[in-house]
Amino acid sequence: QAWLGLKTFWQGKSLLITAGPTYENIDPVRFIGNRSSGKMGFAIAETAAKAGAKVTLIAGPVNLATPQNVKRIDVRSAEQMFDAVQQHYASVDVFISAAAVADFRVADMAQQKIKKQSDSDEMTLKLIKNPDIVAWVAQQVDKPFVVGFAAETQNVIEYAKDKLVRKNLDMICANQVGDNLGFESNENELVLITAQHQQTNPLSSKSQQALDLLSFIAKNEAIR
Ligand code: CTP
Ligand code: CA
Repeated sequence: QAWLGLKTFWQGKSLLITAGPTYENIDPVRFIGNRSSGKMGFAIAETAAKAGAKVTLIAGPVNLATPQNVKRIDVRSAEQMFDAVQQHYASVDVFISAAAVADFRVADMAQQKIKKQSDSDEMTLKLIKNPDIVAWVAQQVDKPFVVGFAAETQNVIEYAKDKLVRKNLDMICANQVGDNLGFESNENELVLITAQHQQTNPLSSKSQQALDLLSFIAKNEAIR
């Protein structure tokens, strides 16, 4: 019956999801990345599509199959992900920002492979801030219902609530990462937080977490 409730809500709704890491090029052979696997975002996309939602998935570099009935757009860098989101956010009911977007990119990407200098034992890379994609969407007048993630290694709930407010999000999913938790794992533990509600979902598969997350949205939120 939980599944029926999910279908009643999600049938015909449109959902935009970002997933995976972004890669920021240093030169033609090197990049800055992170440990996000994309599994959580892909699980949400798969479950939402099964529930009847129209799903667009903007994926960073991941090694995952596209779920059935999901429109997938592949990107590499945060700037490319931002472009894709800007093209799609206005036509959806819900935006879920599950991607681990790089906070910084390399200021001047080298056009040729950077050579190791023989006269120096150190080298400095200048980084500049990337746009905050989910905060940008949450500022638009025609914004959808906006859901962020907060992957934290400490003070999880406190940091997540701070992000909910600071980025003007409708909801945030907090998870503890590091060691064996979160990023590369098939399991996750999420705390779902809105201004009014908070629900802790104990450790379970990412597809179970996806189901609980989509049900939480269906239960708690009146989406225009
Ligand atoms: N996010 C984003 N664009 C960025 C950085 C983050 O859209 N440039 C989104 C993530 O997809 C996630 C949320 O913001 O939904 C929180 O990401 P997180 O890295 O936890 O937050 P930051 O604001 O970057 O803070 P910090 O890394 O310092 O904890
Ligand atoms: Ca960050």
